[in-house]
Amino acid sequence: MTLPTRSLGGLDVSAIGFGAMVLSPGMYGEIDDRTAAAALNHAIDAGATLIDSSDGYGADGHNEKLIGEAVRGRRDEVVLATKFGFRVPEGAEAHAFPVNYSFGELAVNAEPRYVRGYAEQSLRNLGTDRIDLYYPHFPDPVVPIEDTVGAVAELVEAGLVRHLGLSNVDAGQLRAAHAVHPVSAVQAQWSMWQPIDADLLATARELGVGVVAWSPLGSGFLTGKVSTVSASDFRSNIPRFDAEKLAANNDKYAPVRALAAEIGVSPGQLALAWLLHQDPAVVPIPGSRTPAHITENLEAARIALTGPTLARIDDALREFAPAGEGSLR
Ligand SMILES: NC(=O)c1ccc[n+]([C@@H]2O[C@H](COP(=O)([O-])OP(=O)(O)OC[C@H]3O[C@@H](n4cnc5c(N)ncnc54)[C@H](OP(=O)(O)O)[C@@H]3O)[C@@H](O)[C@H]2O)c1
Repeated sequence: MTLPTRSLGGLDVSAIGFGAMVLSPGMYGEIDDRTAAAALNHAIDAGATLIDSSDGYGADGHNEKLIGEAVRGRRDEVVLATKFGFRVPEGAEAHAFPVNYSFGELAVNAEPRYVRGYAEQSLRNLGTDRIDLYYPHFPDPVVPIEDTVGAVAELVEAGLVRHLGLSNVDAGQLRAAHAVHPVSAVQAQWSMWQPIDADLLATARELGVGVVAWSPLGSGFLTGKVSTVSASDFRSNIPRFDAEKLAANNDKYAPVRALAAEIGVSPGQLALAWLLHQDPAVVPIPGSRTPAHITENLEAARIALTGPTLARIDDALREFAPAGEGSLR
């Protein structure tokens, strides 16, 4: 199946990609590798050409290894994106990256001296000789972004990496990094219930950098199907998913669900199509372990929303002020 494509700073990918984080145990509860592999293969068969991973998803490169297995024999059908610095190597210092989720901070390390080692491990995990899009997962609070990016530029020169990406950065960091090496994509949390930072978006547009929207379905909320999350689900750390707030948010979201029904699409499809209409260089990367959901999500790349419909959505979103903190940072 072929989907419409978009360019991330010169890197062509399907307009909607696939976020593979959901396929490793420990994020959305348990999952077995058979189910995960079936989901991944389905995503590729259904036209997703951008597969997003990280060396920090699952234990010991689990997520990357799963992808490596799935793309064996069909490597050229996909653009492999992965991230580093979220699994601090033994003996390296853990640097605290503050976040709004209840655990308060993450441990990261994006010191240049570790970057080649991260990449070589990811290449082994992925069973490939090149990473198409490589991101520091988080800007390291004690390392200038220029230094981290300088180390990735060396990997580009060596042919191990094709394109540089940045994840969870601000506009100033994007500009500083781009001056060291062209940035193809910036990955940021962006969905109907979590606006992207306006300065970051403006800077990406100015510099010709693509925008990869993470958690584009609001970690599942925007599908309208999440009424409870268990303690083993990482969403229990997101204040917006507290039982009481979640119920209130589902009530507030009703007008958007009704609008989706009126248009004849699912609420999740409306959320993805709305994102695609925000900017020609945005590529959402929804994650799912369910083949039917994956097809539904990817098909949103073909939905055209008219100006009046977009205006009605924006009116509804102005009224939809979710209860509780929802942004990672
Ligand atoms: N750079 C970063 O720091 C960062 C942070 C978070 C995420 N990400 C990236 O963004 C990707 C996506 O984010 P995410 O997984 O957090 O959130 P998401 O894509 O917004 O939502 C995923 C959730 O939505 C559900 N879902 C998906 N499609 C559905 C459908 N059609 N109907 C009903 N439920 C549906 C999934 O459940 P089912 O499995 O049941 O479909 C899953 O629970 C990740 O895989 C990762 O690659 C990056």
